[in-house]
Amino acid sequence: MALAVKGLEGIVAAETKSSFIDGEKGILEYVGIAIDDLARNSTFEETVFLLWNNRLPNKAELDEFTGMLRDRYELPPGMEQRLVALPTSAQPMHVLRTMVSALSMHDLEPNKVDLPSARRKALNILGHVPTLIAYFDRYRRGLPLVHPRKDLSFAANFLYMLNGKEPTPAMVRAFDICMILHADHGLNNSTFTARVIISTLSDMYSAITGAIGSLRGPLHGGANEEVMEMLGEIEKLAKEQGKDAMEVIEPYIMDRLKRKERIMGFGHRVYKTIDPRATFLKTFSKQIAADTGNLKLYEMSSKIEQIMAREVGSKGIYPNVDFYSATTYHSIGLKLDLFTPMFAMSRVSGWAAHCLEQLADNRLFRPAAAYIGPHAVAYAPIEKR
Ligand code: ACO
Repeated sequence: MALAVKGLEGIVAAETKSSFIDGEKGILEYVGIAIDDLARNSTFEETVFLLWNNRLPNKAELDEFTGMLRDRYELPPGMEQRLVALPTSAQPMHVLRTMVSALSMHDLEPNKVDLPSARRKALNILGHVPTLIAYFDRYRRGLPLVHPRKDLSFAANFLYMLNGKEPTPAMVRAFDICMILHADHGLNNSTFTARVIISTLSDMYSAITGAIGSLRGPLHGGANEEVMEMLGEIEKLAKEQGKDAMEVIEPYIMDRLKRKERIMGFGHRVYKTIDPRATFLKTFSKQIAADTGNLKLYEMSSKIEQIMAREVGSKGIYPNVDFYSATTYHSIGLKLDLFTPMFAMSRVSGWAAHCLEQLADNRLFRPAAAYIGPHAVAYAPIEKR
């Protein structure tokens, strides 16, 4: 049997109503609604309802859904002690993967996969994830934990728990938009992982835990951290050479491209034009960067984008969502190693939406491998090897 396509590129492996992507035209829709429209007008809570129900909620439905989510901001008893027993040197994505897995032990019926149970578990995970991330970050910084506030939205409550003070409305809006933009994205690697796991009729906790493991990789969700590292490297280089950062961008990028190195935050398996999420974030990150005194970082990003368009635009390599989310998160004041957990915090909604779809019409994923090894090899006893 021959290998159809390496990396399953372009292979249709599932049906979904959650998100539609046209990589050539740069279109992304959630349940038919343009991502731009949602980012401008919606909230993360409403977007999650949309993904889990395939329609927008009315006011009463949204209030009920939001209330149920807020009821899950507090961690189950015992989780806090487990969290503060972790090494402070642990990386947040590893902490998140471990603690989401641990949540299953606080569920009296962890294995139930009927749709109402699966939805409840999804809501548990979505409600608890911000608290897990904020608590761990404060614990490792030696700060007292700040308990969640049910009167705050998903975005506002997270920033409040993280920083110990209420965020400004501009910060909340910026963060909420990032949550909306990252919520779902077709059958990407981590979503596929979640669907593969749930297709065995394993549980929601296992599916989301596996998806977090997938998202951590630098070719997937880990890229936004590396974008910020790259901007930091450019600034450091400029300092060493006694130059302005803007002057060293061109030689830095050209040197990396010459060495066939990838520039993080560029390129996408699906988009062969600018990622529509990046288009929106670009404008937005400029505004938030200006408001927070980080305009220089935005200008550096913009220059990198111009050089990349000139050098590799013809190959269909353009900024992806990670490129401008890096400066946005930095401007909001998030530490570097929290960038990918932010992605995960939002994407729990998309992973769960796909798990619910998979469970509603399940067939076990079990592809085939093209065997390329030898045949009829005689078994050699150990003393003869
Ligand atoms: N910088 C420079 N060149 C690139 C980049 C990049 N970031 N990405 C792809 N290319 C080049 C490749 O070198 C290749 O060139 P060649 O044809 O001359 O050999 C060509 O573009 C096609 O590359 P592929 O590897 O075939 O593209 P693929 O679809 O496998 O890659 C991927 C997609 C993995 C995202 C890649 O673009 C990449 O590594 N980007 C950097 C990491 C990143 O930003 N990831 C985040 C993705 S978005 C997300 O997960 C939310």
